[in-house]
Amino acid sequence: SWTTGNVIEEQVAAIREQVGTKRAICGLSGGVDSAVAAALVQKAIGSQLTCVYVDHGLMRKGETEQVEKDFVAATGVQLKVVDAEERFLKALAGVSDPEEKRKIIGREFIRVFEQAQAEIIADEGPEVAFLVQGTLYPDVVESGGGTGTANIKSHHNVGGLPEDLEFQLIEPLRKLFKDEVRMVGQELGLPDEIVQRQPFPGPGLGIRIVGEVTKERLDLLREADAIAREELTAAGLDRDIWQCPVVLLADVRSVGVQGDGRTYGHPIVLRPVSSEDAMTADWSRLPYDVLAKISTRITNEVADVNRVVLDVTSKPPGTIEWE
Ligand code: XMP
Repeated sequence: SWTTGNVIEEQVAAIREQVGTKRAICGLSGGVDSAVAAALVQKAIGSQLTCVYVDHGLMRKGETEQVEKDFVAATGVQLKVVDAEERFLKALAGVSDPEEKRKIIGREFIRVFEQAQAEIIADEGPEVAFLVQGTLYPDVVESGGGTGTANIKSHHNVGGLPEDLEFQLIEPLRKLFKDEVRMVGQELGLPDEIVQRQPFPGPGLGIRIVGEVTKERLDLLREADAIAREELTAAGLDRDIWQCPVVLLADVRSVGVQGDGRTYGHPIVLRPVSSEDAMTADWSRLPYDVLAKISTRITNEVADVNRVVLDVTSKPPGTIEWE
């Protein structure tokens, strides 16, 4: 019968057999799948695994720390963090087009990840032969499914490395659905903030700023997003919504009045949606008092934001993300 205990036991045995005395690398994205895959492989082969986390500077408040501190504390995993914020910001400078942003973020991500792989191989030798991927059953079935380019799943090509060095894949979640992955993660002792995390796009906040991505705008959006998440959690709504993108309309300004003067600031969009699989979605009917609290806090606490608007579009015709 299916139990998380059985799944873990089976996978641990299979991974040990597959890897033997060799070594593996796993990219962590901050998301559920890569975290649970890494934790499973860590349980199986311990210090033969090295995880890589690319900090592209486009994560939300506290997310990088969650990986660096909480995930490491829960698993004891050996983690290499690459601080690539400056590199990503430089590559994104002057770019407003959503597709171009996605391409740049995806490209830079692969480059940074491959560089980290090369460094690990230089340190640890040619016995680094395996790459861990958090592929789920629905990914296997759809194969090629997924909307993103900056997805960890596309990173098993290893350009720039010696040609005879081919990674073999370890995919311990291949037979599991998302809810099963969460159960396995919980059983492995991962923190709730990671295991219960709602979907978040690979390109991160880079595609939630309508307009050019700058450090200043990212910091502003991070504050607004953190407030919205905090209030949704406080209201007990995390399980009711699929996700709630918070979007900064950086190229739009509107007039407001705050304190004793006129302001000319940016709007923040709240995009709470309900969905089963992200293919279609409906806008969530959040309680007015929760929306009011979020709006008041964001306009009071986030400089340069003088308006909060609610996106009441379903998918289709709107996508969940704005870019
Ligand atoms: P859309 O905007 O297409 O989003 O309705 C559907 C779901 O996919 C997420 N999303 C992404 N996830 N890389 C990802 O890993 C991406 O590039 C990407 N773009 C969108 C989005 O958050 C939603 O859950």
